[in-house]
Amino acid sequence: MNKMISKIKKVLALSICLTVFIGIKNLSSQDGANLFKTKCASCHTVGKGRTVGPDLQGITEKRNIDWLFKFIVSSKQMIDKGDPEAIATFQEFKTPMPDFPLSQAEIKSIIEFIDGGGAGLEVKVDPIAEALQKKVDSIITGNSNESIKKGKDLFNGYAQFVNKGASCAVCHNVTDNNYGHGGLLAKDLTNAFTRLGGHAGIKGIILMPPFPSMQETYLNNPVTEEEAAYIQLYFQQQDKLNTAGPIVQKWVLIAAGALGFLICAIFIFILWNKRKKRSVNYEIIKRQNMVSK
Ligand code: HEC
Ligand code: HEC
Repeated sequence: MNKMISKIKKVLALSICLTVFIGIKNLSSQDGANLFKTKCASCHTVGKGRTVGPDLQGITEKRNIDWLFKFIVSSKQMIDKGDPEAIATFQEFKTPMPDFPLSQAEIKSIIEFIDGGGAGLEVKVDPIAEALQKKVDSIITGNSNESIKKGKDLFNGYAQFVNKGASCAVCHNVTDNNYGHGGLLAKDLTNAFTRLGGHAGIKGIILMPPFPSMQETYLNNPVTEEEAAYIQLYFQQQDKLNTAGPIVQKWVLIAAGALGFLICAIFIFILWNKRKKRSVNYEIIKRQNMVSK
């Protein structure tokens, strides 16, 4: 009887622990939505097509849960380990996905949110937002030199952002003959436009940066959609102007190096040859003198 009671006690204690544990650990679908918006939406949609990364609609049918948990924490590790699906996705998109050291519960809530169709990702249409959207669209489709110049000035710090955020060139560089060099702290963005899938990809990263240092910089000084559009156009232009640019430069450098080496070699050869002749002649003269003495 005593044994029985102690068993019941144990089971009770265990189940209380479990309930508390699950209670704490279970995040709501609202948490999933928030996490998705802040950490994933800059590169993924749910049912709205591919942007920087793949559309995640139906991902739980395509991949098993275990795989998803591991991939979201570190896609890099999966690729390094030779996981064929991770490698195939990476080869298709060419851009690595950053690692997300999220808890199991957080990842679970994100996956549940995606499974639920990503409801609530769209903002309700309000007239002000709609007008802004129209304006932004017309900036992009207009693609005027004036807009590109605005993007160039904002990026390089020759004009100030409305909300006073730091210029991008503090951390990034874009190859541009008319402007100085930007920072080398973060990735060179000269060809970011192609690399990140065009306007949608760049816009996502500027407005919802998934990188901690960028997030922090613009948290209280967000870049506006209009400003993002100007920068997108600037990226588009520099990307076009600089395709294969660095490769040409490399070849010019190698050719110049080879030519320099050749000239040096010829110069040394001539000097050495002259010296050799003179000393031989000198030797002969000396010998003759000795003989004639
Ligand atoms: C900076 C952009 C970026 C962010 C932010 C990002 N991803 Fe990704 N994601 C990618 C890219 C690019 C790929 C495809 C290339 C690869 O597999 O590495 C990808 C692939 C995936 C895949 C595999 C899809 C497939 O078809 O196999 C899943 C799942 C995924 N991401 C989930 C997430 C989740 C969840 C988040 C938020 C926690 C997130 N991603 C945040 C860029 C991103
Ligand atoms: C405080 C430094 C900082 C500032 C300022 C900053 N970024 Fe970034 N940015 C980063 C870091 C760090 C990354 C992560 C990638 C890396 O390691 O370079 C990044 C990544 C990016 C990427 C993705 C690059 C890729 O190919 O994956 C884009 C696009 C980008 N930034 C655009 C901008 C734009 C546009 C601005 C200005 C509005 C800006 N950044 C300002 C630090 C910064």
